Amino acid sequence: MANVIVMGTQWGDEGKGKVVDLYAENADVIVRFQGGNNAGHTLVVKGVQTILHLVPSGILHDQKLCIIGNGVVVDPRVLISEIDELKERGLFPPQTQLRVSEKAHLIMPYHKRLDLAREGKRGGGKIGTTGRGIGPAYEDKAARTGIRMGELIGDGDAFRDKLRRNLEEKNFLLTKYFGETPVDPEAVYEEYRGYGERLREYVADASVLLHRELRRGRRILFEGAQGCHLDIDHGTYPFVTSSNTVSANAFSGTGVGPQAASVVVGICKAYTTRVGGGPFATELDDEIGRRLQEVGKEFGATTGRRRRCGWLDMVLVRHSVRVGGVTGLALTKLDVLTGIDKIRICTGYRTAAGERIDLAVPADLPTLAGCEPVYEEMEGWTEDISQARRLEELPKNVRKYLERIETLADVPLVLVSVGAARNETIILKNPFSS
Ligand code: GDP
Ligand code: IMO
Ligand code: MG
Repeated sequence: MANVIVMGTQWGDEGKGKVVDLYAENADVIVRFQGGNNAGHTLVVKGVQTILHLVPSGILHDQKLCIIGNGVVVDPRVLISEIDELKERGLFPPQTQLRVSEKAHLIMPYHKRLDLAREGKRGGGKIGTTGRGIGPAYEDKAARTGIRMGELIGDGDAFRDKLRRNLEEKNFLLTKYFGETPVDPEAVYEEYRGYGERLREYVADASVLLHRELRRGRRILFEGAQGCHLDIDHGTYPFVTSSNTVSANAFSGTGVGPQAASVVVGICKAYTTRVGGGPFATELDDEIGRRLQEVGKEFGATTGRRRRCGWLDMVLVRHSVRVGGVTGLALTKLDVLTGIDKIRICTGYRTAAGERIDLAVPADLPTLAGCEPVYEEMEGWTEDISQARRLEELPKNVRKYLERIETLADVPLVLVSVGAARNETIILKNPFSS
């Protein structure tokens, strides 16, 4: 019995939430290991849509343990409102438990203010962040000035002192460099102490909890946020997020060793999307791009921004398979391609110097900007595929597309998603039984 890591293989929004919700049926523990409420994971169950930003996507199932690991940055206000909303809607099952690592760093009001102020100053070169304070919170973690979940529920005086010290520097930046108003430490203190009281019951040593579950032979599902090409090291830097989004961080982001999971499911949209700035080799600024955006309802689940759309880029996917140790691919949103006459797959890039690249996205942005995608064209299909539950039920041209992706990715497909709902899925392999 294997434990499973789910990670995005593109620029996020691949459908990780849907797949994690589906796989959670077979898991006992579902744990987020990085990112924060920049993530928006959409679940559709019995016609009802739920978008989760911090709470793991296993929450709709009863008798699960859902954990927010130490690698996540937590905005306590967002976490509380997410818990409240789930409870109000009757979507937080009574036997399911939620826990947050005492080591998870907090997103503070000044992180959000600095995120927005920096983006404002970058002008045309902005990253297009979600404005949730993610980058500044991870910066403080690395600078060793961050405040953690454990301190939020701990000694009030220590929390107040740290906050005051941090704000001396942050307010200097905000007022003197960005020309903005300062943040009042006392107001933040009062606000956050209230959050601490509300969240106290959820705070735990998540590593110890996970270790106990592993020893009992319980199945763990690690839920990644964002995608490989938004990874701080392996993505299209600097147009990335501020955490490692790849599978390796499932371990350090939760406090377990690398033996804790051996299966990595890479989630891959049947085409490519990106929100925010940065390079995008197969982007389409034409009718087909607009069609993908409309039919795929490609609006950000967190910010509501329009997602940029383009053809499936197998250089991106192969890069992710390599860096993430992906053992199987889950292909999502295949139904969105229905009705497109000729479908293109990018199998490689041609650099400005005429060199062919097909395994790795160039790290150097000017080199990447000079790359032209090399396409292969395939026949499309017109049949409605949303009712298919087995591969054999798919039209011939769909299966050819799938086979080509499998060959180019050099890993097997383990799932094909043909609609947003939990049941609109063709399951080819149960990843836990690997
Ligand atoms: P995540 O961030 O990776 O969890 O993905 P998002 O939830 O941000 O975006 C994926 C969007 O596509 C959501 O609106 C899902 O409900 C939807 N979705 C997921 N799988 C499918 C699919 O196979 N077909 C269609 N049409 N929509 C899907
Ligand atoms: P899920 O988990 C898509 C993008 C932002 C921006 C860049 C940096 O739903 O797939 P940040 O706020 O993290 O500093 O923004 O990363 N981004 C995402 N794009 N899906 C996400 O999460 C994202 N989280 C961040 O749009 O380009
Ligand atoms: Mg999303």
